[in-house]
Amino acid sequence: MNTLQDITAALVAPGKGILAADESTKSANKRLAAVGIAETSEMRRVYREVFLTTPQIEKHLSGVILYEETFNDHIRSGVPFIDILNQKGILVGIKVDQGVMPFGAKELITDGLVGLPERLKVFKEKGAHFAKWRAVITIEGDELPTSENIHEHAVSLATYAKNCQEAGIVPILEPEVLLQGGHTRARAGEVITEVLQEIFVEIAAQGVDPEALIIKSSMAISGSDSGCKDTPEEVAEDTLSAFHNSIPEEVTGIVFLSGGQTAACVTANLQAIAERKEVMWQLTFSFARALQGEALVYWAGDDEKIAHAQDIFLKRLELVALARDGRYRSEMEEELQALL
Ligand code: 13P
Repeated sequence: MNTLQDITAALVAPGKGILAADESTKSANKRLAAVGIAETSEMRRVYREVFLTTPQIEKHLSGVILYEETFNDHIRSGVPFIDILNQKGILVGIKVDQGVMPFGAKELITDGLVGLPERLKVFKEKGAHFAKWRAVITIEGDELPTSENIHEHAVSLATYAKNCQEAGIVPILEPEVLLQGGHTRARAGEVITEVLQEIFVEIAAQGVDPEALIIKSSMAISGSDSGCKDTPEEVAEDTLSAFHNSIPEEVTGIVFLSGGQTAACVTANLQAIAERKEVMWQLTFSFARALQGEALVYWAGDDEKIAHAQDIFLKRLELVALARDGRYRSEMEEELQALL
């Protein structure tokens, strides 16, 4: 696997997708606290070990995105997490943004460009094949996001992508349009389109190769407070229409975040997207919560429950991978329910 294009194609290969195991320390602690687990570095390490040592995940995972803490850590027996993934033939990714900072009164921008080339060089030497940078975009009526915020995010994402490609690392560009808010599905689609259009203007301006990057997007769905319930077909229609209006054909792959959608819901939405025949990109998953949530609730920090929690994780992974190929049926949820 030599070129950036080869790595990109492998990450979005049919039947497979990416696990986002890269929650920051703060987010990981929040997930652990929600199920009564102590917010310590040791429990974060065990949390990663539960998921990354699950037998057979390599059947469905092309890559895993790690947070720096895990990237430099090891499982209980002393084997580095990176070696565990390499042994399974899973590509190692690294979250390289350094979190968010305020942008004006109500918006956010992403930190982490200072010193990025040097950090990328170190990650590459240690075995990273790809990276991730998350931009957080808030919708509030017609006021947010502002065009200034969209522009700043696009410039940062393109600069990050250029740095990655120069370092021999495939960049995942993640403009996360937040689900939170009372907006309609149409408004979400409009914002996704606008943000992606601006990103590709900056990508062209900075000479980033569109064939050697991956876009990580939200789906176009109604805001979490809107009370609307979108059908999977509606989500597929509006999400793909946003992509067709903004993402060039040369882009190889697009992956989705789950964004707080329930696991069953986002799996059904991915299935509806995969059923659409007109798509020219590889489309797959890169979920954190939707892949890990059910197993995390079951495990809740109990060593004796690890093996069964891993079965739950593997089952959700299997269902999501089937959906990625358009082979999932909602009745299959019963197989997962039977494990809970
Ligand atoms: P969720 O799938 O939980 O939204 O996380 C994906 C991700 O990588 C957020 O940055």
